[in-house]
Amino acid sequence: MNAEPALDIAAWTDAQTKEHLRARGGLKWTSVPAGAIGAGVAEMDLPLAPAITTALHDAVDRGLTGYLPPALAAGVADATAGWQARYGWRVDPADVHPVASVVTGFRIVLEHLTDPRAPVVLPVPAYMPFLTVPATAGRELRTVPMRIVRDDAGGAGRGGRYEFDLPAIAAALTPGAVFVLTNPHNPTGRVFTDDELLAVADVIDAAEAIVFADEIHAPLTMPGFTHRPYAALSAATAAHTIGGTSASKGWNIPGLGCGQLILTSDSAREAWERLDPFTKHGGGVTPLGAVGTIAAYTGGAGHLAACVAYLAAGRDLFAAELARSLPAAHLFPLEGTYLGWLDLRGVPADPATVGERVGVFGVDGTACGMPGFLRVNLAMPHPLLIETAGRLGQLA
Ligand SMILES: Cc1ncc(COP(=O)(O)O)c(C=O)c1O
Repeated sequence: MNAEPALDIAAWTDAQTKEHLRARGGLKWTSVPAGAIGAGVAEMDLPLAPAITTALHDAVDRGLTGYLPPALAAGVADATAGWQARYGWRVDPADVHPVASVVTGFRIVLEHLTDPRAPVVLPVPAYMPFLTVPATAGRELRTVPMRIVRDDAGGAGRGGRYEFDLPAIAAALTPGAVFVLTNPHNPTGRVFTDDELLAVADVIDAAEAIVFADEIHAPLTMPGFTHRPYAALSAATAAHTIGGTSASKGWNIPGLGCGQLILTSDSAREAWERLDPFTKHGGGVTPLGAVGTIAAYTGGAGHLAACVAYLAAGRDLFAAELARSLPAAHLFPLEGTYLGWLDLRGVPADPATVGERVGVFGVDGTACGMPGFLRVNLAMPHPLLIETAGRLGQLA
């Protein structure tokens, strides 16, 4: 396990200006006009974990830029299983398969590991590719809107959270259907409770369906909430689940190209064994992705905890600022992820035009299957969160 050099994450991040962030060259800031706020794609402005940068420098110095060697694939499997143990899930490393990304893994699931005639059932709002990838795999998509349950005990009607509409999900499922369960949930910010997950499990079992459990945001579970891996809930959930995860969100390394599928059912294991060699190699996992992933899972816990503390403080700061600047908007409580989900239906603003109007470029909820909402990436320096809330206030 690598020691993690001390780094003052809050001071480092607070000092980043829009100009610094543009100069860094990432997608989020270079895809918006100069001077505007990049709050779209799920990248973080926080520093990389020193354990990751050290491991990557070392790998580059060794010229480790070829194809993925078996020892690194095994290292990813061991490190993934080790990380999942933190959530109380005992994963056999033999069940962990590196894939180029979680979305690549999802495609493999749809194209090779599940019944091609069965539909994909997706609660919406959802992470955007889940709305488009099923068609590319020739699969029928059935979207099921989640329910907003208001809890006015939160004060001034600002409570309220998304829940699954179980009867509607049950009605959409057929035997072999793939139900996409994202937890923590992008974009609503929910971290589902055991009771909610067990209720989903009953519906899945009754329908003889499959769950694709995307738990990529698990490392970004906010303080006060607990991530429970779905497959770890019971023998029944393990038997009907294919898990997808990655260090890419928690440690901000999606560009390195390494996610993981976790297979816990005999049918998925057998289907995996029958795959062609290219697909079995995960569709392009890179050695640098594997090195970064192993460093994150085995040496990045302290850095992650400091990042989550900064993100949680930013979430609270943004909520307070926005309540002042744009009280007609509703920001859902963020239990996990750094993606704020804003209900703009009470504001005279089309979410698609917010970027042009006030220079805050988030994701139009329409792309998530839910018009009237805006997804705002809050993983930015706190001074810029204050600016973002102020700019959104100009919509009033
Ligand atoms: C829920 C969810 N799944 C998957 C991904 C993409 O992961 P990857 O880059 O590994 O495909 C994201 C990225 O934001 C996400 O939010």
